[in-house]
Amino acid sequence: MLPTKFPRHLWPLSLHFFQKRLFLGEHDLTDLARRLGAPLYLYDLATLDHAISAYRHGLRGWPGPSLIAYASKAWLSLPLAQLLARRGLGFDVVSVGELEIAQRGGADPRLIHIHGNNKSPGLLARAADAGVGGIVVDNLHELTLLEKMQPPAPLSLWLRLNPDQSPDTHAYRQTGHYGSKFGLSWEEAQIAARRIAQAPHLQLTGLHAHIGSQFFDLKPLFRAIDRLAALAAWVQGQGLGEVRYFSPGGGLGVPYHPDDPAPRLVEAVRGLSEYAARAWQERVGGPYPTLALEPGRSLIARAGLALYTVGAMRHLTTGQRIIAVDGGMSDNLRPALYGARYTAALAHAPLAPTAGPARIVGPLCESGDFLIDSIDLPKAHPGDVLVVPSSGAYHLSMASNYNGMLRPAVWLHARGKLIPMQRRETVADLLRRDFPLPPQ
Ligand SMILES: Cc1ncc(COP(=O)(O)O)c(C=O)c1O
Repeated sequence: MLPTKFPRHLWPLSLHFFQKRLFLGEHDLTDLARRLGAPLYLYDLATLDHAISAYRHGLRGWPGPSLIAYASKAWLSLPLAQLLARRGLGFDVVSVGELEIAQRGGADPRLIHIHGNNKSPGLLARAADAGVGGIVVDNLHELTLLEKMQPPAPLSLWLRLNPDQSPDTHAYRQTGHYGSKFGLSWEEAQIAARRIAQAPHLQLTGLHAHIGSQFFDLKPLFRAIDRLAALAAWVQGQGLGEVRYFSPGGGLGVPYHPDDPAPRLVEAVRGLSEYAARAWQERVGGPYPTLALEPGRSLIARAGLALYTVGAMRHLTTGQRIIAVDGGMSDNLRPALYGARYTAALAHAPLAPTAGPARIVGPLCESGDFLIDSIDLPKAHPGDVLVVPSSGAYHLSMASNYNGMLRPAVWLHARGKLIPMQRRETVADLLRRDFPLPPQ
């Protein structure tokens, strides 16, 4: 059982306390980090499945068909793509790399759609070859590239509308405001729809908007849905296409810190689905298209744990401690990038009394290399294992080799067993692309 004062909603479902230590299923986290090495990432399948089922239940608020297209940017690997494809999910991908991984994981290409504000001709050609379900037109330049193509079969295009809506989130995560690099203005969307109708090898099949990421107030999203529905009514009214996919994107916020809002995912998805259904009924009418949601973090963030080993410590005269661990901005850029706040616990003593505030920093040559700016933590010692929850999204996908850091190993906890997902990088991996100079 987890003690009630522990913020269990931030931690994977399989997390347990046993003899006052943290376990994932049967596995003592301190032992795991020592045995498998740190930094170490663990994903809990039960938590991922729970989030998928919250989406499935919530989507019942939409009377038509629906699609959960995982936003691969949150983190993609072959085994994750396999897990998601086997569960019937689609994929939102933005590069040839993500497309290939999704396909090698067994994704049905018809359930893949391609995003990006500057898709290369190579990516468009690859998407056409793969027969993806949708290429999401982000700007008119891209449409020109598509017009020039000679695909073997007509290309199914979605339009990404910039609905001029800003959710309450960090500026770097807003994507749907006027001046954003993403999406077509209303007028551009109309031009694009007319041009697509002129091209026999192009078909307009979907409408999309994504206003940003990590927000809790859904009102800007609802306004974006209204605009999308108005565009759908216009497109169909003009006979320019049949909107078979209606996609208000992803972005639902998740708690990372005990002070963050913690809405129930199923209710957020149901509210969003019901709102979209009303908007469709009122503004468009007729059969419901497929409601395509693109969750990233709300599917996978809570499933992930990051484990680090405590090393050097500094005690300041202010009473604050600086605790250095063996990972940092090279595996979790989010604190440096957007001041993201996390919590953490010592794996062997998660509930020991606090010894005062601590700043958790990494080993890299940047003062911006920190994981937690300030946290009340028990007394820590070198060799202790520090565990950071809600680490499943936008950590590993943004990880780097800065300072020659080796990206961590990743393991899956599935029905009590531990299964490797990715091995730790080696120095040989760092050298793999380098050409030695010819001898002098
Ligand atoms: C187009 C698009 N869809 C979906 C997402 C997923 O957002 P989140 O992980 O917050 O659900 C993103 C993230 O930036 C995105 O750019």
